[in-house]
Amino acid sequence: MPSKILCVAGARPNFMKIAPLMRVLRKNPAFDAKLVHTGQHYDAKLSQVFFEDLKIPRPDIELEVGSGSHASQTAEIIKRFEPVLEQEQPQAVLVVGDVNSTIGCAIVTSKFTLKQPFTCKLGERRRPIMIHVEAGLRSFDWDMPEEINRILTDSISDLLFVSDPAGMENLKKEGVSESRYFFVGNVMIDTLLAAKDQAMKSQILSELGVKEKGYALLTLHRPSNVDDTAALKALLDTIDVVAKDQVVVFPVHPRTRGRLEASGIKLDPARWKLTDPIGYMDFLKLTASAKVVLTDSGGIQEETTVLGVPCITLRENTERPVTISEGTNVLAGTKREAILAAYANVRAGASGAPKTPRFWDGKSAERIDEILTGIFAS
Ligand code: UD1
Repeated sequence: MPSKILCVAGARPNFMKIAPLMRVLRKNPAFDAKLVHTGQHYDAKLSQVFFEDLKIPRPDIELEVGSGSHASQTAEIIKRFEPVLEQEQPQAVLVVGDVNSTIGCAIVTSKFTLKQPFTCKLGERRRPIMIHVEAGLRSFDWDMPEEINRILTDSISDLLFVSDPAGMENLKKEGVSESRYFFVGNVMIDTLLAAKDQAMKSQILSELGVKEKGYALLTLHRPSNVDDTAALKALLDTIDVVAKDQVVVFPVHPRTRGRLEASGIKLDPARWKLTDPIGYMDFLKLTASAKVVLTDSGGIQEETTVLGVPCITLRENTERPVTISEGTNVLAGTKREAILAAYANVRAGASGAPKTPRFWDGKSAERIDEILTGIFAS
């Protein structure tokens, strides 16, 4: 009998991580892999387009939790995931990343008792094996909801798969048993490398009327940057200096769109190209072709590193330090002087060649599959 694994995805940054995992697990006769979509992100432009672009199979189970405060959204995920475990009785649950869906499903799994115990290399189990992919990342910023999600998810997971060498150090310092964590590389980069050739054919540059290396690309959605009107305005005023030098393409996340509308901030359309959120293939093309990327995202710091595009991160910290030590990322923070200094460096020609941190080679999902096969082999 194959071991049943429920793989969970809920929000945009999860989809590119779950895609290569579903592909390898579905091919492996040792596993019966099912996909659960929590519905944390539900807009076609934040969800469906990624399923289409990345050929992710249709979810087997949809929880349709929708938006809400952190408490009510996480609670809804918890409430709706428990009956799924009751029904499915899986031997393992796999979660990715650091969003509310990650911790919500992990907490249910870690307290769930199966009707039938089973045996694997971890011994006799009454609970499903809890697997976290992209474990060990730490920003050390407890004001960041994702940091809470990371720490809690790691602490209740049985198996931790790590993408950044700093993640290995963090888990070691936290006293996690070495038998629980594995350096496997970055599953999101598996997706990038598999999609790159096709993505480069995207027509998004001509659709937006911009030229290769002739624009800056901006994304902003962290609550700390967008929820406070004064902070958001200050940041956009600074980036307007960049816009006076070259056009800024700004795909706007729904959270940010709401704040822009509520605050009445206006951006000059002669210098700024605002768009709706953009699908995976088009966004990859836009990133690869940008002169510089300014962002407060986590994943984009990694994608720019592999694509060799200078990245200015608009945060005071990063949980992905390999993108600085080995990549193209600069942590500028949110202060005007620091952002403009980082931009001046890019203008002067700083960084640029594609970088590949260890194991960011397109084979991370295969490594995870191999380790799991060993653990579940009877
Ligand atoms: C979530 C993740 C964040 C991730 C980001 C990527 C957590 C704690 N945060 O933040 O780590 O980087 O996704 O996008 O899990 N909305 C829509 N349509 C949707 C989803 C949301 O319009 O499909 C709007 C809603 O008004 C919602 C707001 O966007 O209130 C924010 O969405 P939410 O899922 O709460 O958090 P994100 O900011 O997207």
